[in-house]
Amino acid sequence: MRAILACVFLCSAFASGGQAADPTDEMIAHGKALVDAGDCTGCHTADPAKPFAGGVRIDTPFGAIYSPNLTPDRETGIGAWSDQEFYNALRFGIAPDGSRYYPVFPYPNFSKLTRPDILAVRAYLATLTPFANKAPPPQLRFPFNFRVTMRLWNYLFFRPGILEPDQQKGTDWNRGRYLVEGLGHCGVCHTPKNFFGADRRGRAFSGGTVDGWFAPRLDSAQRSGLKSWSVDDIAEYLASGRNGRSHADGPMADIIVNSTSKMSDADVHAIAVYLKSLPPGPPEAATVQPPDASMREGAAIYAHACIACHEADGSGAPRIYPPLPGNALLQSADPSSTLRVILDGAQTVTTPRAPNTGSMPGYAKQLSDQQIADVTNYIRNSWGNAASLVTADQVAKARNTR
Ligand code: HEC
Ligand code: HEC
Ligand code: HEC
Repeated sequence: MRAILACVFLCSAFASGGQAADPTDEMIAHGKALVDAGDCTGCHTADPAKPFAGGVRIDTPFGAIYSPNLTPDRETGIGAWSDQEFYNALRFGIAPDGSRYYPVFPYPNFSKLTRPDILAVRAYLATLTPFANKAPPPQLRFPFNFRVTMRLWNYLFFRPGILEPDQQKGTDWNRGRYLVEGLGHCGVCHTPKNFFGADRRGRAFSGGTVDGWFAPRLDSAQRSGLKSWSVDDIAEYLASGRNGRSHADGPMADIIVNSTSKMSDADVHAIAVYLKSLPPGPPEAATVQPPDASMREGAAIYAHACIACHEADGSGAPRIYPPLPGNALLQSADPSSTLRVILDGAQTVTTPRAPNTGSMPGYAKQLSDQQIADVTNYIRNSWGNAASLVTADQVAKARNTR
């Protein structure tokens, strides 16, 4: 008994202390796949010539923060860190000096990673070319400019924890949950936030705002959630940036290019299986038919400006011009993403699995706020679609967000 206890103590002390033996090529390759799945580059690469050297400015409702350097540079990067220090950062959001990170760094999600996965990430990062680059200090508003407030935030909102596999569910579901809740940090954008920037309780994946875009519901809400998408639809979207129902733009296009398009078919399938198991979530907002005048104006603008690609019945050409009838993102309570596409236009993303198939022009210059509101109301409420009213004020706000 004593020998077992001694081993439990010593073996775990051995496993958690100091640097591990030289990582194998397999561990490094595994770490690279994890770094892709976590989109570490999306936030930690400002200059493509210096991958992972940090310095990306990230705007939050509380002010701006710059991402640090993850390359092995010993002065300005994490080259001098121990494995345990790296583990503490991802698992607990604690810096080597004991201070707490801001949760813009999605450690509340990364906390769900297993220790071997965290160490594989570390092993891969250690193989990168070191670059010297020191990120500017955060520019956050009072009281968040005091890092110590994050201790209170953690006390209120952060529960470190490994995801125990659910034995009732299959391997795919468990893998999908690990990717969605952990590395993929999908809820950072797709879950609405409370006043303190933490996930709103009971509202997981019911849609959130990010950078002037709306990250739509990923639950199985009827009109504006993934109810109408099959597992294959979701997997195709994540792997290629489009499917027969929608195309990815804005922040989701970045996630697809940097992260989900690089995942294995098995992993995107697992994510889709997990998302399809999410419950319907909170009820969808009631909708009212927009005033006749707005629908009439909208129909005229649509016939003039949009019909050439999207067709009179909105059917478009799947995978080239996304169909508008039954489109979940289009019927979202928050129209921000639709307004962004109509104002700025959109370019179909190119991924290894699918080439660029075309683009949509922006209408910010040709159409007034009222005209954009009208055409948006028209496409949100035609062909069986139903969604809340969009006003010229909302369009003006969206226009000024960029
Ligand atoms: C959404 C943006 C975002 C993503 C995605 C992201 N990070 Fe970060 N990360 C940050 C920010 C911002 C900070 C600084 C937080 C602070 O100063 O409190 C940070 C800090 C860190 C730190 C602490 C570094 C130091 O010098 O103290 C590590 C380690 C880290 N990230 C690793 C990762 C890894 C590994 C991934 C991918 C699995 C990742 N990050 C993905 C934004 C991000
Ligand atoms: C940085 C923010 C962000 C992150 C992180 C993010 N998404 Fe998204 N997502 C968005 C936005 C914004 C859209 C709307 C895109 C558009 O306008 O085309 C979107 C759209 C989607 C859609 C299409 C839904 C529809 O009805 O059209 C799916 C599916 C999706 N995301 C899944 C995921 C998954 C799975 C993850 C995690 C692996 C994830 N997203 C992570 C911001 C994000
Ligand atoms: C030249 C062809 C063209 C014209 C004209 C055009 N679009 Fe598009 N539209 C596209 C393409 C291509 C996409 C997909 C962009 C992408 O992949 O990011 C798209 C995407 C959209 C989307 C997002 C749908 C989704 O789920 O991804 C909406 C909404 C939309 N268009 C509305 C309009 C409206 C309203 C007009 C007229 C004011 C219009 N479009 C004019 C080609 C066009």
